[in-house]
Amino acid sequence: MRVGINGLGRIGRGLLKALWDDRRFEVAALNDVAGGAILAHLLNHDSYYGSWGHRAKATETGLSVDGRDVPLFRGATPSEIPWNGARVDWVVDATGRFKGRAPLEGHGLPVILTASSRDVDRQVVYGVNHETLAPSDRILSATSCTTHCVVPPVFALARRFGCRSLWFNTVHCYNVSQPLVDAPLDDPRRARAGALNLIPTTTSASLSVEAVLPELKGMVHGMAVRVPAPAVSLTEITLLAERPARREDVLACLEEAAQGRLKGILTLSREALVSQDFLGNPASSIVDLPLVAAHEGAVRLIAWYDNEAGYVARLVDLLAYLKGRNL
Ligand SMILES: NC(=O)c1ccc[n+]([C@@H]2O[C@H](COP(=O)([O-])OP(=O)(O)OC[C@H]3O[C@@H](n4cnc5c(N)ncnc54)[C@H](OP(=O)(O)O)[C@@H]3O)[C@@H](O)[C@H]2O)c1
Repeated sequence: MRVGINGLGRIGRGLLKALWDDRRFEVAALNDVAGGAILAHLLNHDSYYGSWGHRAKATETGLSVDGRDVPLFRGATPSEIPWNGARVDWVVDATGRFKGRAPLEGHGLPVILTASSRDVDRQVVYGVNHETLAPSDRILSATSCTTHCVVPPVFALARRFGCRSLWFNTVHCYNVSQPLVDAPLDDPRRARAGALNLIPTTTSASLSVEAVLPELKGMVHGMAVRVPAPAVSLTEITLLAERPARREDVLACLEEAAQGRLKGILTLSREALVSQDFLGNPASSIVDLPLVAAHEGAVRLIAWYDNEAGYVARLVDLLAYLKGRNL
């Protein structure tokens, strides 16, 4: 599969690196508003994950990695990018700038948007609803990292115990949507210095969880607290069950899901760990088993996630699935 990546930021660069070493894919073209020299530098040196095992450098027409050239365009409008000329099969839009289908579909190629959006053909959480995709689904939202953390354990628990209501709070590392110093953003809390404050705010995952698990429509209440950590997040998830849910039954349910249908996507942690221990972990959702609690129909979980590494791993899984199905 020939993949085009629009936006070489945290997610775009992570995806490029993951695809580069994967023989199922060819990175056929890239686009960003930034120039090749700085993008090559940021590929080679990463503050979170360290050095890349390959060497990127800028060329006259784009980037070269270990001597292999990839065209790099510098357009701000998706429909202007000559993806077709580069024989791209699927475009991944990781700019974070485009939230609806209109700006994305001008070039006629199918697109995976790396953000939650209702204005798409399908919102997909790989592992839970990717098998519902049809050939007519051409503009997909891969939802958000938090959605990928919440949906797998909730999917397993709600099937077993039913769900009357779902509450979650993601304790989320800061990211590019927050300023380093106080700045005039619309959201008065998000406007505050990201590396200094605990910032209660919204999360797009509330809507995406309901889109992926429609049986929970009207039951999902989510929020976020952005915290002064640069990488790895956790979500506290409380599910009010319809049927009795003893702690040992909850553990057995999670164990079964992690060994079965959600293998590699939902994983379990048995040690007393902290956020840095999960850096680079490719799972979507890592349930901290010692912290599972259940009482009178309420089930409380803590699930960890590397919001970049886990999400990128699922983008690769989704692309591989689309390739395998010729979608
Ligand atoms: N970071 C995470 O943990 C995470 C996890 C899951 C999903 N996501 C989602 O993924 C998307 C990207 O997030 P990110 O953290 O990777 O952000 P990011 O680091 O800011 O990456 C976005 C990249 O796109 C570039 N860009 C901006 N406008 C563009 C345009 N019109 N055309 C082409 N490139 C453009 C940006 O350049 P400039 O910097 O010069 O503007 C930047 O290089 C967002 O929707 C985000 O919600 C992020």
